[in-house]
Amino acid sequence: MLCLKAYALLGIGLLAHAQTFNNPVIYEDFPDNDIFLGPDGKTFYWSSSNFHYSPGAPILESTDLVNWQLVGHSVPTLDFGSDYSMQNGQTAYNRGTWASTLRHRKSNGEWYWIGCIDFWTTYVYTAPDVIGPWKKSASFQPCFYDCGLLIDDDDTMYVAYGSNTVSVAQLAADGLSVIKTQQVFSYPSECSGVEGNRMYKINGLYYILDDCPSNGITEIWKSSSPWGPYTRKILINQTPSPVPGSGAPIQGSLIEAPNGQWYFMSFAWAYPLGRLPVLAPLTWGSDGFPVLETVNGAWGQSYPNPLPTNNSVPSWIGGDQFWGNSLSPMWEWNHNPDTTKFSFSEPGLILQTATLTNDLYHARNTLTHRPNQQFPVGTLQIDFTNMADGDQCGLALFRDKSAWIGVVRNGNSYTVTAVQGLTQDSSNHYATTSTGTVVGTAPISVGKVYLQVRMDARANGSNEATFYYGTDGNNWSQLGGTFSLDNGWQYFMGYRYGIFNFATKALGGSIKVLSFVSWSN
Ligand SMILES: *[C@@H]1O[C@H](CO)[C@@H](O)[C@H](O)[C@H]1NC(C)=O
Ligand SMILES: *[C@@H]1O[C@H](CO)[C@@H](O)[C@H](O)[C@H]1NC(C)=O
Ligand SMILES: *[C@@H]1O[C@H](CO)[C@@H](O)[C@H](O)[C@H]1NC(C)=O
Repeated sequence: MLCLKAYALLGIGLLAHAQTFNNPVIYEDFPDNDIFLGPDGKTFYWSSSNFHYSPGAPILESTDLVNWQLVGHSVPTLDFGSDYSMQNGQTAYNRGTWASTLRHRKSNGEWYWIGCIDFWTTYVYTAPDVIGPWKKSASFQPCFYDCGLLIDDDDTMYVAYGSNTVSVAQLAADGLSVIKTQQVFSYPSECSGVEGNRMYKINGLYYILDDCPSNGITEIWKSSSPWGPYTRKILINQTPSPVPGSGAPIQGSLIEAPNGQWYFMSFAWAYPLGRLPVLAPLTWGSDGFPVLETVNGAWGQSYPNPLPTNNSVPSWIGGDQFWGNSLSPMWEWNHNPDTTKFSFSEPGLILQTATLTNDLYHARNTLTHRPNQQFPVGTLQIDFTNMADGDQCGLALFRDKSAWIGVVRNGNSYTVTAVQGLTQDSSNHYATTSTGTVVGTAPISVGKVYLQVRMDARANGSNEATFYYGTDGNNWSQLGGTFSLDNGWQYFMGYRYGIFNFATKALGGSIKVLSFVSWSN
C-alpha cells in the first residue's frame, strides 16, 4: 500500500515536472541576483554575491530561467587589500562582493561588473566575454551602494544606488568614471532605508526597483527621465514565502523573456543554507506598473515553466574527482588562496598546508562548496599519507559557527577527530572567539579515509548536522554528537562545505583530495 502510494506520487511528480517548476529554482545560496537577457536574445545572465569567497561575484547562465549553471566569476581575485589574503593576521569575513550589477554593452561588446567594496570604493571590472578574462578597469568614489546598471538605448550608462537616499549616476562614455550624480528620491516614511537598487528602461520609461528590508516591501519607481521625478508603487508587501520557515522574499530582478513574458526573481532568507532564489511571473497593469502573480495570496510553490526546458544543463548535485588542471566554478576559496600551495595530480587535488595556525578561520586555502537541497550530504575522500606531524585536515561545515570531522597527526599517531564549537564574533570584525572543542576521536591507520557530513538544512527543520567517517565508502561510523547549525542572517553567507589542511607545528605536509560528492537525502 505504502509502495503503491509512493509510486503514484512519483508519477504525478514527473508529469508535473514537464510543465511546471518548483521554488526555490536553485536550492543553494545565490543572493543579490541581477539578471538580464544577454546579447544573443536567448541566454540569461545572473550576477550574484559571495562576500569573502574567492573568486568573487559568481555568474550563472540559463536559457529557460529555471535550470541554471554556474559558469564563472567577475572578480578573479579579491584584490582589495592584503586582509583578503589573510596577511598579517587579518581577515575580510563578511566583506568582499555584495549587491553588485552586471550588464553586456552592445556598442563595444564588453561586459561590465560594478560593485562597492568596503570603506567605500566602487570598482568596475570588465571583460570581452562573460567567462573572462575579467580585469579591474577602474575604481572611484562615491560608493555605489546596492547598485543597478542601465545601458540606455543611446548607449549612455546610468547607475542607480543608495540606501538612505537613492541617486542616479551617469558614467563617462567609457563607463569607467562618473560625470554626474544626482539624488532622485529618498526612502518613504515607512522604510528605514532601502537596498537592492536595479534600474531598467521599459517602453521608453525609466524604472528603479528596490526594497525596504525592515518591513518586507519591494517597491518600484517610474519616471519619464532618468533624473526623475519618480512615482512609486508597492510590488510586494510581505507576500508569504514559498520556502517553509523563511521570511517574505524581497529584492531581486525584473526579467523579460524572449516571448515577451515578465518575471521577478527574488530570494528567500532560508538559513542555515542561505538565500535561495525564487521566481514568479509578473503582469503589467494599465498604470504602467508590474503586478506579481501570487497563488492564494502567497508566492507560488510552483508555476508553469516560463520557456521550453533546457535538459542539457548539469545537475547541481554530483561529484568531482579534480581531473584537469583547474577548478570548476562550483569551487570557491575562503579568501584568496596561496596559489603556490595547491596543485592537480590528474586526477586529484593536492593541498599543501598553507598556514601555521591552530585556527581554521585563519588557515588559508580552505576550499568551499555550497550544500544543496533540504537534507544535504557531503562526502570527501582524501589520502593523508603525506601529512606532516601536527597537521589537521578534513571536512568542515563552515560559517561563523563551525564544526568539522578530519584527521589529526600527532607524532606517529593518526586520529579521526570531530571538533565542534568554532566561533567568530560578528560584532568584532569576525575575530575568532573559539577554535572549537574535540568531541570525538577514533584511531585510523595511515592511508585513505572517507569523511561525511549530513544536515537538516530546512529553514523550518531541526538544523541538526552529524559527522561520519569510513574506509570503504559504505560503512559509516558517526563521530561526535549532533551539531546545531546556526540560522542567523548577519553573516549573510549560508553554511558551506569546507575542505581544509593546516599545520600546527611546521609547513611541508600535504593531503590529496581524491573526490568530493555533493548529494542530498
Ligand atoms: C541549453 O543550455 C546549454 C548550456 O547552458 C546551452 O549551451 C544550450 O544552447 C542550451 N540549449 C538551448 C536549446 O537553448
Ligand atoms: C517544513 O515544511 C515542509 C513543507 O511544507 C513540511 O512538509 C515539513 O513537515 C515542515 N517541517 C517541520 C519540522 O515543520
Ligand atoms: C564498520 O566500521 C567500523 C569502524 O571502522 C568497524 O569497527 C566495523 O567493523 C565495520 N563494520 C563492517 C561491517 O565492516
